[in-house]
Amino acid sequence: MRRTLIAGNWKLNGSKDSITKLVSELTTGISAVSNVDVAVCSPYIYVPFTESLLTDSPISLGAQDVSMHASGAYTGEVAAVMLKEFSCKYCLVGHSERRAIHGESDDIVVSKFKALKVEGLVPVLCVGESLEDRDQGITMSVVEKQVMAVINECGIDAIDGSVIAYEPVWAIGTGRTASPEQAQEVHAGIRALLERFNKDIAVKTQILYGGSMNPANASALLAMQDIDGGLIGGASLKADDFLAICQAA
Ligand code: G3P
Repeated sequence: MRRTLIAGNWKLNGSKDSITKLVSELTTGISAVSNVDVAVCSPYIYVPFTESLLTDSPISLGAQDVSMHASGAYTGEVAAVMLKEFSCKYCLVGHSERRAIHGESDDIVVSKFKALKVEGLVPVLCVGESLEDRDQGITMSVVEKQVMAVINECGIDAIDGSVIAYEPVWAIGTGRTASPEQAQEVHAGIRALLERFNKDIAVKTQILYGGSMNPANASALLAMQDIDGGLIGGASLKADDFLAICQAA
């Protein structure tokens, strides 16, 4: 049986004071959460600071991006080994905001995915379609192409121990959430794709939903058979809301 994972993506938000307050409230409230894995993905600059606040907490630490390079003349980038040094367990790759704003292609996403696997971090492969894609009825082909980019380059075994996050672009930060049925359809499609290569890996791979998940809709989404958790943006910045989502699982 797959464990539920609720991961917060803080995006470009926070300060030492606000993160201290947020993490304090989370570490206090997390005792009321059971049978759910919880993680927070901090901006790079606050990873060591957040690590220090999470000591002895069951909450795992993650990052939001990573360099595809291990070291060298890559000004401004952060390597997987550096994230590992500061106790990061998870790292997002291919978030739609990086694909759209920074022009990250599937090839770049795959290179970052591989860099994380080399260091033993858990990649969270973000995939999802635009509203135009959905309106054209090509949602699954878009999502499958993004997942296949990793499988074609790394093989299905690379998905073992990784996480996939389905984030319909039109639902991110918009307050417009995919219905449980819409999300389940894509999650089931992703799992069916994985099953074509390895049934065991398909069965055990956590597939998270992201896109305006909040305390009001979390239960219905998380009740769906192939939704194994959430990747939470805005609602992860408020401890009460994030904990309510964790408890809805
Ligand atoms: O990575 C999660 C994020 O993209 C979802 O954002 O604010 O719609 O929960 P939000």
